[in-house]
Amino acid sequence: MQQISKTTFTDTYAGGNTQENMHAYLEAHFSLAQLKKEISNPESFFYFARHKTQVVGYLKLNMGQAQSETQKAALEIERIYVLKNFQGQHIGKTLFQKALAIAQKKQLQFVWLGVWENNPRAIAFYTTLGFIPYDKHLFKLGDDLQTDIMMRLEL
Ligand SMILES: CC(C)(COP(=O)(O)OP(=O)(O)OC[C@H]1O[C@@H](n2cnc3c(N)ncnc32)[C@H](O)[C@@H]1OP(=O)(O)O)[C@@H](O)C(=O)NCCC(=O)NCCS
Repeated sequence: MQQISKTTFTDTYAGGNTQENMHAYLEAHFSLAQLKKEISNPESFFYFARHKTQVVGYLKLNMGQAQSETQKAALEIERIYVLKNFQGQHIGKTLFQKALAIAQKKQLQFVWLGVWENNPRAIAFYTTLGFIPYDKHLFKLGDDLQTDIMMRLEL
């Protein structure tokens, strides 16, 4: 999980951010200590996509207080990461369908996420899946304050 998180995050965001800010974010958010803490949170859920023995993608979901912004009857997709060489093969969609099934089973009202305004590929992906923008929130990458578009899908 640490490896795929760092690799995908770097592939996706290094082009639009400074090396210092990328380094600071990777150290703070994808350290083993941080990931262990996240895994032990009973309101967060992780699912992995595998090709043969290789982990090629993963999904992190949050409910209740684990959400980046606590919202009632909602499920947050905090991360859908698919390795570059495996993108465009419906792995992201399969991970999303897992999130949807969980939200439906738990009888929640909507699935939501925050996506960086400068990540057009991900915005297009979520739009294809039926998400619509409804708000914005701030996201700190190193010392850079960035805007995330919040998107939701009503169930
Ligand atoms: C965004 C991401 C999760 C998409 O996963 P993926 O496996 O490449 O996407 P899929 O193959 O499952 O695509 C699902 C649907 O979205 C559409 N889609 C995917 N990328 C798209 C793009 N750039 N533009 C338009 N549509 C796109 C596909 O056409 C497909 O539609 P279809 O079912 O009609 O064929 C993946 O590219 C990724 O991990 N990116 C890097 C990390 C990231 O940005 N994560 C999201 C922010 S947290």
